[in-house]
Amino acid sequence: MLSTDGIRMQHGDSTTPKLLAQHLDVVYVNHKTGAETVALKDISLDIKNGEFICIVGPSGCGKTTFLNTVAGLIKQTRGSLMIDGQKVNGPGKDRSMVFQSASLLPWRNVLGNVVYGLELHGRLNKETKEQAQEYINMVGLKGFENYYPHELSGGMQQRVNLARALAVDPQIILLDEPFAALDAQTREFMQKELLRIWSETKKTSLFITHQIDEAIYLADRVFIFGARPGRLVDVVDVDIPRPRDLNIKRNPRFLELVDYVWSIIEAESSKQGFDDRH
Ligand SMILES: Nc1ncnc2c1ncn2[C@@H]1O[C@H](COP(=O)(O)OP(=O)(O)O)[C@@H](O)[C@H]1O
Ligand SMILES: [Mg+2]
Repeated sequence: MLSTDGIRMQHGDSTTPKLLAQHLDVVYVNHKTGAETVALKDISLDIKNGEFICIVGPSGCGKTTFLNTVAGLIKQTRGSLMIDGQKVNGPGKDRSMVFQSASLLPWRNVLGNVVYGLELHGRLNKETKEQAQEYINMVGLKGFENYYPHELSGGMQQRVNLARALAVDPQIILLDEPFAALDAQTREFMQKELLRIWSETKKTSLFITHQIDEAIYLADRVFIFGARPGRLVDVVDVDIPRPRDLNIKRNPRFLELVDYVWSIIEAESSKQGFDDRH
């Protein structure tokens, strides 16, 4: 299902993938002992503009490493990584991250947190501030601009994180288990909200999750990573039409896809000789 060969690489060409990884390896080296950990091995994949990709796989299979490499925070050891046909050389304002944990600045209110990235980039002006306000409205926090993080629920805090990531108007949004700390009901609600926001913004999204049903519900395609070393073992097309309501999670095709992804992850986990799927 991968089609990384033979793709024309002119910038702006509609056939140029938004993101293209070719034979990507990431090796961590312990500078004290010299010990090497191969976190990612020979990852080749491409992602289209506006696509919603979920990444699943057992703990330690390199999901976070892959996201950080796309973010430009980690440099690949071998292979290439391109966005719009251009080599990734460190972080850029075309990408923003949404983390799992409470990563909001506690001394700033909602608006202050949302405009923080714009401030860092030296791009805070009347126009970008208005746009930030629009994203606050889009994530459903209109009226909460002056609240501080400790005054918000977990779900609301993740809405702020999402608005903050959107406010810099990135091309790609990178989400590392953003809903993992939420209770089950809030999590489902946020999944639905995220799809609504994605359909309004059409930002290319890479979303890591441990929950297979979350991956199938959100994604156009699910990338399954395997561990030791971390590599791409399968790509699943989610052929369930959009818009998707939460009740599609009871649809037979949905359950079939969940079972399929489980079976691949299970096979990968048993290859490791222990079960760390959680
Ligand atoms: N900074 C680091 N230094 C050394 N090894 C690391 C570092 N970060 C992650 N690793 C190792 O790389 C592998 C992949 O980790 P990670 O990308 O966090 O996986 P995942 O997000 O899928 O759980 C693991 O074996 C982990 O221990
Ligand atoms: Mg991780």
